[in-house]
Amino acid sequence: MSIRGKNVLVGVCGSIAAYKSAFIIRLLIKEGAEVRVIMTANAQDFITPLTLATLSKNECNTAFTNATKTDWNNHVELGLWADVFLIAPLSAGTLAKLANGICDNLLVATYLSARCPVYFAPSMDEDMWKHGSTVANIEKLISYGNKIISVNEGELASGLIGPGRMAEPEEIISILKKELGEEGTLLKNKKVVITAGPTYEAIDPVRFVGNHSTGKMGICLAELAAKRGADVVLILGPTLLKPIIGSIKVINVVSAEQMYEAFQQHTAQLDIAIFSAAVADYKPENPATQKIKKKTNDFQIQLVKTIDIAAEFGKIKKPNQLSVGFALETENETDNASKKVTNKNLEFVVLNSLNDKGAGFRHPTNKITIVDKQNKITNFELKTKESVAEDILDYLESYIK
Ligand SMILES: Cc1cc2nc3c(=O)[nH]c(=O)nc-3n(C[C@H](O)[C@H](O)[C@H](O)COP(=O)(O)O)c2cc1C
Repeated sequence: MSIRGKNVLVGVCGSIAAYKSAFIIRLLIKEGAEVRVIMTANAQDFITPLTLATLSKNECNTAFTNATKTDWNNHVELGLWADVFLIAPLSAGTLAKLANGICDNLLVATYLSARCPVYFAPSMDEDMWKHGSTVANIEKLISYGNKIISVNEGELASGLIGPGRMAEPEEIISILKKELGEEGTLLKNKKVVITAGPTYEAIDPVRFVGNHSTGKMGICLAELAAKRGADVVLILGPTLLKPIIGSIKVINVVSAEQMYEAFQQHTAQLDIAIFSAAVADYKPENPATQKIKKKTNDFQIQLVKTIDIAAEFGKIKKPNQLSVGFALETENETDNASKKVTNKNLEFVVLNSLNDKGAGFRHPTNKITIVDKQNKITNFELKTKESVAEDILDYLESYIK
């Protein structure tokens, strides 16, 4: 896959991440792309046009007209020249202008004129990122068919730690390569349904049987699948986390039964099912309708099996549908995973073991082993859950091939 020879227009806004645009441009040139740059006036407070002109090997476009006002930068020509328009970093201010067509600078005018795919990589502080107006503007851009390169979590320029960091230049280039490449990603336009998070099984109106899952792994998978062009439905158990890519359809559920019902709505049309949720195996047989009072010394709850969503799907799966399961084991890990593959008619199981330090619940990292239908066992290093999602989807794509 290559972006060699493609015309890439890079828009740069006034954000602290503007310095990363220099690396993006350098990587694009290295890949053999033809690069032209548009900077907002505020972007020039963060990085100079001279730097970006030198790196892009083209004059930098900073305003509608040049200093003598005898010549003008043709936004329509720039928009039509581009095979792809990447706005990185995208500031909250320019985001609001793009979403509302406020055409008071060259970057916005070119955006409105462009016929090519537009990718935007936002960068802002956590609270700006989470603000309702930012969320609404991002959704608007996505609804216009523009594609978001979602922000990362981490240390922000303000010193806060949270979501808002612009994706790293290497990530941005890798997404563009996948999207613009001749083959494209194999997940493009595939309908992917992902279950994630825990389920809560009611004992009474205030108590439940649950587990420590946060849903982070499944959310990472959903975001990456969406970045790779899939049409993603995320069925999410109770958790405070949520995906930041607006194109992901999120269905919030609480119990295993609700998760099953939500999944059933999509079984006929899905191409790929990924069962990453930590669904309760058992639920109270007769949940109390009122809060149970503390009376007796002993108290028993009769539990009954919940429905096994992956196994049920395995019984009715069509030949063109793929399914991937997750297993968290504490003993005989690979044997148990292998049995799961067979019993649930899965393509492969992603296994994580509580015996591995840094893996499993409430860790930002995970260490997985993939056990597939042919009983091939592939071990991976301890990595962030974002990187683990890359490994899983790469494996899935090689399986599709
Ligand atoms: C040091 C500094 C860092 C900033 N970083 C960001 C940022 O990361 N994201 C953002 O949306 N705005 C940031 N701003 C505010 C924008 O620069 C400001 O909203 C500006 O009007 C954006 O202009 P533009 O969108 O036309 O480039 C920052 C401002 C300063 C002074």
